[in-house]
Amino acid sequence: MKVTVFGIGYVGLVQAAVLAEVGHDVVCVDVDQNKVDNLEKGIIPIYEPGLTPLVTSNFEQGRVKFTTDAEKGVTHGEVVFIAVGTPPDEDGSADLKYVQAVAKTIATHMQKHKIIINKSTVPVGTADKVIATVSETLKELNKDLTFDVVSNPEFLKEGAAVNDCMRPDRIILGTESEFAEKKLRELYSPFNRNHDKIIVMDVRSAELTKYAANCMLATKISFMNEMSNLAELMGADIENVRKGIGSDPRIGYQFIYPGCGYGGSCFPKDVQALVRSANGVGYKAKILESVEAVNYRQKEKLFDYLMDFYKGDLKGNTIALWGLSFKPNTDDMREASSRVLMEKLWEQGAKVQAFDPEAMEETQRIYGNRSDLSLMGTKEATLNNADCLVICTEWQAFRAPDFELIKSSIKDPVVFDGRNLFEPSLMSEYGLHYYAIGRALSV
Ligand code: UGA
Repeated sequence: MKVTVFGIGYVGLVQAAVLAEVGHDVVCVDVDQNKVDNLEKGIIPIYEPGLTPLVTSNFEQGRVKFTTDAEKGVTHGEVVFIAVGTPPDEDGSADLKYVQAVAKTIATHMQKHKIIINKSTVPVGTADKVIATVSETLKELNKDLTFDVVSNPEFLKEGAAVNDCMRPDRIILGTESEFAEKKLRELYSPFNRNHDKIIVMDVRSAELTKYAANCMLATKISFMNEMSNLAELMGADIENVRKGIGSDPRIGYQFIYPGCGYGGSCFPKDVQALVRSANGVGYKAKILESVEAVNYRQKEKLFDYLMDFYKGDLKGNTIALWGLSFKPNTDDMREASSRVLMEKLWEQGAKVQAFDPEAMEETQRIYGNRSDLSLMGTKEATLNNADCLVICTEWQAFRAPDFELIKSSIKDPVVFDGRNLFEPSLMSEYGLHYYAIGRALSV
């Protein structure tokens, strides 16, 4: 099938590559010429396991093409995806200007029926706005054409995006058009083999499903973080509590890992956007407001531990920091807990010596050169002349470090762990003080 994808960001690029891989004929359109040139040279704008070979092989075989030519893109696809960003605007609502601009572009260039698919995470009611924009533009241009607008939200996780897209848990189709449903069933048939993963519903329910899924997961995390704070105050161990409640299949083990807060481009943005949307319909989303507030507080947790250990005086201290990305297997620093920590440390006059397996360039891009940030080549190098060690991201490479080396390198034998990677008893054996989330301080 001929497919066009507007927006070569995370969602658009992965979706395009995966559709090309199963044999569809895909054209990707983006306004950024540099991005298009790079992709044609095999330079992929994001770090995502498995994505580079997937994109380059499909590009070489001519199944995916990249262009800035919107007219060419619109003409190509019978199915046109909108996968552009919906950044939060000042009040946290999703800003739809890019989505609407693409809708207008599609209407401007289309010469026959198009199925327009909203893949971006967009508030309930956006499909109606896209319909209005396309209809108005067609009318202005005196074009008598029909079209469908479908909500088909994406559920991929960064770091596992290719696999999530290749083997989706579910494919949500928000449409009441039989024609669009039939076409999209055909488009997605390679991903829908073993059992039917397609769930068809009305457009608004599909739009809300996306937010509800992310908000539910964010709620699970904030709930566990709240429990971890209680565990600390009550002398319990959150790791035992986690196993104890996760064994109930109604709760499950996933997304109940306590930590130094959730980050990334999705949970923070989507929780905020749904709170704003709720306000818009006159409803105060109290659970979601709390989820956000708890997460905000949790991102300060590591800093609070440091202030506790150093009795409120971090001036002149050098902190070794392992992990900068918001989670492992990505170089994405958006809303990362490491940023809250570093910025608070700098405010106190402390220095940071940091290492991350993938996010060093991104950190450099965000913070530039500053005297209180040193980006080190290895995790071991961060320890030289450091006072203590802090862990913000649970990269595999941090799970079995040389504890003897840590102990002998840092000035104060203390590790602050925002991801609960180690057993407190083991840390005691190595003579390390260990602050972990929701676990009694081990000395
Ligand atoms: C999330 C959802 O998991 C995807 O299903 C969704 O498609 C995506 O948002 C999106 O809307 O595009 P992602 O942001 O890539 O995916 O990352 P997650 O793996 O969900 O992790 C988010 C954050 O939660 C990370 O900071 C992670 O460290 C934190 N987390 C996760 C916890 O603190 N505890 C947990 O138990 C799980």
